[in-house]
Amino acid sequence: MDKPKVVLGVSGGIAAYKACELLRRLTESGHDVRVVPTASALNFVGEATWSALSGNPVSAEVWETVHEVPHVRIGQTADLVVVAPATADMLAKAAHGLADDLLTNTLLTARCPVVFAPAMHTEMWEHPATQENVATLRRRGALVIEPAVGRLTGVDTGKGRLPDPGEIFEVCRHVLARGTVSAEPDLSGRHVVISAGGTREPLDPVRFLGNRSSGKQGYALARTAVARGARVTLVAANTGLPDPAGVDVVPVGTAVQLREAVLKAAADADAVVMAAAVADFRPARYATGKIKKKEGLEPEPVGLVRNPDVLAEISVDRARPGQVVVGFAAETDDVLANGRAKLARKGCDLLVVNEVGERKTFGSEENEAVVLGADGTEEAVPYGPKETLANVVWDLVSRRFR
Ligand code: CTP
Repeated sequence: MDKPKVVLGVSGGIAAYKACELLRRLTESGHDVRVVPTASALNFVGEATWSALSGNPVSAEVWETVHEVPHVRIGQTADLVVVAPATADMLAKAAHGLADDLLTNTLLTARCPVVFAPAMHTEMWEHPATQENVATLRRRGALVIEPAVGRLTGVDTGKGRLPDPGEIFEVCRHVLARGTVSAEPDLSGRHVVISAGGTREPLDPVRFLGNRSSGKQGYALARTAVARGARVTLVAANTGLPDPAGVDVVPVGTAVQLREAVLKAAADADAVVMAAAVADFRPARYATGKIKKKEGLEPEPVGLVRNPDVLAEISVDRARPGQVVVGFAAETDDVLANGRAKLARKGCDLLVVNEVGERKTFGSEENEAVVLGADGTEEAVPYGPKETLANVVWDLVSRRFR
């Protein structure tokens, strides 16, 4: 089988150096990558680097190897075009269909999915001109990843960082996997909120009641949603996982903090997926000093109080009409019967039920589940990567949008 053909467009920003890492990930995972830098990008990283890492010739202009008509052929034959970093200037040119170099020509001739990973200073990103260009590109079906928040070149920090190259690679992988089915991102224009991880309920400054949720299923939901065009808010409880590209990550600790963050983000959300393992109880008393053992005395029992049930709350009291709410349930016995009862009790639209066991669910890369619908439907997802289950969830959610 031919290797998938990827065009890596690089425009002139300092983050161009990070595109070298993206290039490595793409080539090492079996993609045939053609790097098309702009002339400005070559000021940051030279042709020799791109050529050596890709194993392919590199040119920025349309005037080289003219007999091969590269300005048309490179775009026409690509399975995916990813522009990383995409500068404000590049987004403007792409939005307006300018074609004054090889990369902009390639963008006009490509008929495959196109991903832009913007990187620029916060002011440039927030400028109405840039925002309108981004909206134009998204309307036309391109996937424009939200920049990350953090340290920018120089002393300033804010939104505008290029996301981690490994995470941009994940977006490319997901888009390529779906590209054959549909090039149009089906969650485009939708805001989805996902909770992930496990809450920790503090007993004292050093101890907590927690659970074994790793957050991997929630992160798979976030990555696949970005690749399908959604704006994603990820409420992450104690996961320690790298931020997925293009995702607004809201870190939380306890169930009460998670509830606050989910309710806030859900206000304008089209869907809320509660993949987090939320503690049902928290210690009734928090000791402000470390609880010490006392010689000769039995430890004091830990009193518990109920935490709010976030899933039940957002299901009953929908922030928007038509908002789709999805819950998760990990069960050990009578899996389906318990799942059906829980779906009815919580009042959500879909409930992903998985059996807790060896290799399955906690900390694992794989999962197996049945997705129950409030309308009586049942969809079994066989044992496989957590992202497969994530895509089934989004298929069922997007069907409910329609
Ligand atoms: N959940 C929640 N708030 C809680 C507890 C759970 O929002 N305080 C959500 C989880 O995110 C998950 C779903 O509810 O989507 C399933 O939670 P689970 O604890 O398994 O359900 P319970 O009704 O507590 O049932 P059980 O008796 O099995 O504990």
